[in-house]
Amino acid sequence: MSRADLVVVANRLPVDRVVSPDGQESWRRSPGGLVTALEPVMRKPDRAWVGWGGQPDLDIAPFDFEGARLVPVPLSGAEIESYYEGFANGTIWPLYHDVIAAPVYRRSWWESYVQVNRRFAQAAADAVEPGGVVWVQDYQLQLVPKLLRELRPDVTIGYFHHIPFPAYGLYSQLPWRRQVLEGLLGADVIGFQRQADAGNFQRSVRRVLHHTTRSSEIVVPSAEEGGESRIAVAKAYPISIDAQSYIDLAQDPKVQARAVEIRQQLGDPQTILLGVDRLDYTKGIRHRLKAFGELLQDGRLKVGGATLVQVASPSRQRVDAYAELRDEIELTVGRINGDYDTMHHTAIRYLHQGFPREEMVALYLAADVMLVTALRDGMNLVAKEYVASRIDHSGVLLLSEFAGAADELTSALLVNPHDIDGMKDLILRAVDMSPGEQSRRMRALRRRVLDHDVEDWSHDFLSDIDKVRKARA
Ligand code: G6P
Repeated sequence: MSRADLVVVANRLPVDRVVSPDGQESWRRSPGGLVTALEPVMRKPDRAWVGWGGQPDLDIAPFDFEGARLVPVPLSGAEIESYYEGFANGTIWPLYHDVIAAPVYRRSWWESYVQVNRRFAQAAADAVEPGGVVWVQDYQLQLVPKLLRELRPDVTIGYFHHIPFPAYGLYSQLPWRRQVLEGLLGADVIGFQRQADAGNFQRSVRRVLHHTTRSSEIVVPSAEEGGESRIAVAKAYPISIDAQSYIDLAQDPKVQARAVEIRQQLGDPQTILLGVDRLDYTKGIRHRLKAFGELLQDGRLKVGGATLVQVASPSRQRVDAYAELRDEIELTVGRINGDYDTMHHTAIRYLHQGFPREEMVALYLAADVMLVTALRDGMNLVAKEYVASRIDHSGVLLLSEFAGAADELTSALLVNPHDIDGMKDLILRAVDMSPGEQSRRMRALRRRVLDHDVEDWSHDFLSDIDKVRKARA
């Protein structure tokens, strides 16, 4: 098998397996943010992507897709439960999102996480050419950098953490806090969304491992006695979107016509408010519904005058906290709609579905106010997608202070989603904002998103990797 110069390792492959009614199997590019983010990187020759095919026991040989080599890593049904739903999404995800839901610490989940990370590391080691680069993605694979370095000391290793890294006071709960830090420190460059995440990581490294840090550098002692120490770099590389593709869609007459149609189909309300999230407890959907429901109850908003469209795409449905959240949200939506709907208008149009990019941009164009009220979020790309799509500079973004995007999108209306009264006032401020103020704010927001798009993100990260690679050569 030919080996690649750059290997991306992520929990999921960038494709979904589709089986047609006549039983024909094929692969289709998946719609996720990571896939789009890495598209410019993968377009070049000599690239491979190691990841899980999304279904249990899918043990198939590497294959080529749109010019890149894809290397499937099989997971059994039991491993999906213990590694993916268990340790990744029942332990790390809630712990790293500031314990919004209670993390579960189960030793059998940890063992499975180690075992599966080992498998990913081996697959990456087999796929990369001598002296090549491996770029590991996200919290499901925190042990891969160290395991891979042991297998392939010739390779330069990057790791990007797409979610928050918590403060030491929370991180220190993790029974395997030392092993996870050592796993990450196997990388030469460790990227985070915000400076604060990089700072939290460094503090944990100092507290748990007693390594020395100076600015973004960490001195990692050699595993062998008397061996030479090396430097790992930990710093912020805020991820972004392919802004131009959103602008192109927003300029497409078909998409614009669809936006007009959406407004009509909602009964032509004065104001459309929009929320777009994976159905996840980190996204603050309940807080948003509470604020909106109270505004209707107080009579400060009226059905027909305002409609909230909430797209909540299905996610991790077999994890208990997600199933419970879905029940709660659907109960709340049902109650609010029951109390306030009329024959002509609905208070909340709730959609537990995913939509293609064209429909999302039509929704962004239809929405006067975008509500991003996450309780904790690594970045939140929906905020950036909305901003990029607003080509006429109208519209208001209400953005949680607890989303990584708030560091960059400072001209949004920044909200503390825990403060329901404050959020209600800000929603009304957004609904009533003058066109002049909307345009001033939206221009500033768009400048940031257009100036720093996803190609800049991967370029910044990979040039730091390249410096390390050159220094080693
Ligand atoms: C977040 C994570 C990604 C993950 C995505 C979808 O954005 O940072 O690593 O792929 O959610 O979640 P899923 O569990 O379906 O892969």
